[in-house]
Amino acid sequence: MSLTQLPASAVSNPHFLDPDWWRHAVVYQVYPRSFADADNDGTGDVRGIIEKLPYLADLGVDAIWVSPWYPSPLLDGGYDVADYCDISPAFGTLADADEFIGAAHALGIRVFIDLVPNHSSWDHPLFRAALAAQPGSPERDLYIFRDGRGDDGTLPPSNWGSVFGGPAWTRTTNPDGTPGQWYLHMFDVSQPDWNWDNPAVPALFDDVLRFWFDRGVDGFRVDVADSMAKDLTLPDVPVNPATGFGANDKQVGSPQWDHPGLETIQRRWRAVADEYADTELGGRVYVAEAYLDPIERLVRYVSPGRLHTTFNFDALMSEWSAASQRATIGHTIPAHRAVNAPTTWVLGNHDNTRVATRYGKPETGLDYSKPDDGSGESVEPIDLTLRMHPLPTDIDTGRRRARAAAVLELGLPGGAYIYQGEELGLDEVEDLPEHLLQDPTWERSGHVNRGRDGCRVPLPWSGEAPPFGFGTDADPWLPQPAHWAALTAEKQAQDPDSTLNLYRRLLRLRRERPDFRSDGFAWDAADGGDLLAIRRGASTLVVVNFAAEPAPLPPGEVLVSSEPLVDGMLPPDAACWLAVS
Ligand code: BGC
Repeated sequence: MSLTQLPASAVSNPHFLDPDWWRHAVVYQVYPRSFADADNDGTGDVRGIIEKLPYLADLGVDAIWVSPWYPSPLLDGGYDVADYCDISPAFGTLADADEFIGAAHALGIRVFIDLVPNHSSWDHPLFRAALAAQPGSPERDLYIFRDGRGDDGTLPPSNWGSVFGGPAWTRTTNPDGTPGQWYLHMFDVSQPDWNWDNPAVPALFDDVLRFWFDRGVDGFRVDVADSMAKDLTLPDVPVNPATGFGANDKQVGSPQWDHPGLETIQRRWRAVADEYADTELGGRVYVAEAYLDPIERLVRYVSPGRLHTTFNFDALMSEWSAASQRATIGHTIPAHRAVNAPTTWVLGNHDNTRVATRYGKPETGLDYSKPDDGSGESVEPIDLTLRMHPLPTDIDTGRRRARAAAVLELGLPGGAYIYQGEELGLDEVEDLPEHLLQDPTWERSGHVNRGRDGCRVPLPWSGEAPPFGFGTDADPWLPQPAHWAALTAEKQAQDPDSTLNLYRRLLRLRRERPDFRSDGFAWDAADGGDLLAIRRGASTLVVVNFAAEPAPLPPGEVLVSSEPLVDGMLPPDAACWLAVS
């Protein structure tokens, strides 16, 4: 649908047509398999997203990011793409996608989709053709095939390890049944890495970008944006003692990660997005997914002429403490300012323990350099980055902190991401039966790491029992816990104090109050110890109390608070926004 065909009242978001919309956008992540099930088969779909657009418009988000919706064997939840220019029949059709994009725009909501450029699925026709072709053929050169080392090529071409566990190389079998070459897969065996040194690969992805930009998509979330370019001389890397394979610790100079060749790819993509600057929607953008430390390394990706934004995973991994949050915020903002990029705050996504559960653990941070046994002792970084804390959870405390974290996150300058269900305060489902676990991490880690399924359980919309309005009666692809009866969107809509209504108030205020659209940020005089106090623009304060006791507030009018004040004081693990003079 063209914008000129929209009813004047339809574009309810006043910032929708601003070409810089992305600098302050609140983006809601939809994991399509688990969001809403319109055809009642236990799996979410594009029509389900269309049906829930009024819910998202009411929530007040500026954009939706849809995790992969492409044809895929779903061996890594859709991050194994078999066709970049179509929709999985499990999720719908291209016509559904077009309708969704138009309907979202009609409500003043922009649309991001996922670009998965490091690897395809092994079901991609080009990988199948590569397998069928001879060593050294142009077909094979689209991916990274090599002869093995050692006698008869029985050893992998390098010692690199897969992020999901095990080796990053798998040996093929020749048509006559003899062992063949090896191919590289930094993730699952079903996710062969593209060869970005072959000019046909960047050209192929230019076409993918234009295919979707032409259909009205406003942006791409770039999956593993610190991969793609690699040192294809394939040097061995130091071994990670925890896995026995080459480490994925992303050290500076790593041959597999954060390679200097990424800059050329990023500039090329930027140029493609910029081709659309003069179209009716304008403002087509990227958000990079890269877990890179320290943030100064990461912000190179969003320096002028490269990508627009990048997830701030330091925020997601920070502990729930004043010192940790202060350090993260204090480090992140100047690092982004130095390259004139907005910050983007993230509390959760489909790869990490849900925030309400994480903040209810004895250890509230995610430190990938610590072992997964709760001992808290630092070891060499391990590769199972996508792991869960096995520690016990105080979920009431976790939910309370998650509400406060939302007040903090949405009060900071720049953009912010909401992972579906965060607005309902959903917890991680940590007790999924083992036989239902689908994340490849579970198998590849030799059943050490339960993987990420616990944050991907289908949303509870309504009713008193599963499937909670996720379809009408089919079993959802992962089972929902009975206690989600208290957390359905329907129930929370009726409760003025619910987490859902807290998010709605925050997003409304954020849209209305100019201070939140300014880049203004300063530590307030009240900031110190266990009280975080941030001044936004001319007249707004964001205050968080991390202490175990209520804290007095600076003078001002409370605009919104995650908990009711007690005798005018901000309770523990609570946050508020104040209008001040
Ligand atoms: C995505 C994961 C996916 C991986 C491989 C990530 O960072 O967010 O869900 O498993 O990339 O594509």
